[in-house]
Amino acid sequence: MNVFTTAAALHAWSVAQKRDGHTVALVPTMGYLHEGHLSFIREARRHCSKVAVSIFVNPTQFAPNEDYDAYPHKEEDDIALCEAEGADAVFLPQPAEMYPEDASTWVEETVLSKGYCGAQRPIHFRGVCTVVAKLFNIAAPDVAVFGQKDFQQVAVIRRMVRDLNFPIQIIRAPIIRDEDGLAKSSRNTYLSPDARKAALSLSKALFAAKAAVEAGERDAATLEAMIRTTTTAEGWIPDYVNVVDSETLMPLKTVHPGNAAILLACRREGLRLIDNVLL
Ligand code: PAF
Repeated sequence: MNVFTTAAALHAWSVAQKRDGHTVALVPTMGYLHEGHLSFIREARRHCSKVAVSIFVNPTQFAPNEDYDAYPHKEEDDIALCEAEGADAVFLPQPAEMYPEDASTWVEETVLSKGYCGAQRPIHFRGVCTVVAKLFNIAAPDVAVFGQKDFQQVAVIRRMVRDLNFPIQIIRAPIIRDEDGLAKSSRNTYLSPDARKAALSLSKALFAAKAAVEAGERDAATLEAMIRTTTTAEGWIPDYVNVVDSETLMPLKTVHPGNAAILLACRREGLRLIDNVLL
């Protein structure tokens, strides 16, 4: 497996793979890899003959009050995990490689990125779109894999890819959960044992709402109220709970199964978790 630290080296590798008749998939990550990321590598392999994983904690998607400096790192382990999973290349740039000191260009999606997490984190998706656009230009992938756990992120990136004509297929890989239902996240490491236990109320509430839809419930307000009650009872304060159109992210009043999702973000003890379920 190749480990690249410069954009030029990854780009040259990708171009050479394509010249040799391969297709290239990119799995963008911020490292601290867990089973969810490894499932993205496997998903990438189903679509392409070569898989590159980027590991970069992107400073521009963190506001000054967020956890950029504390974001967990374990680069050596991450490289070993990528290798064990059969990745062909890892891209591990330093911030200066990605952002020249006088960088002054942003990529911003202006509609889907504004609500939900975007309302709480106003500069977040501008940073995500900018770094993902850069990674797409550097790695020139045919396919890129992102996790469903960041549902809004995938919708925003799909919109960016459509609007800016990136010739890249975006795959939304399913959420990987711990056995008890908690969606895997690098930030779960911040949870105290009590908060970890109480966090199960998020997935429990989402699964109960999905079951209610399967049993015939169609009223979005009823489903949202069910979820708020369950999560609040465990000390999680919802930032938002919304039944939405799964592509446009527009809030729905009535659920249309097959084309809807429930998105939620909750806070407790200074921590914020997100989760979602497709209906
Ligand atoms: O989902 C993430 O880990 C990040 O937002 C991404 C897509 C790697 C961009 O930094």
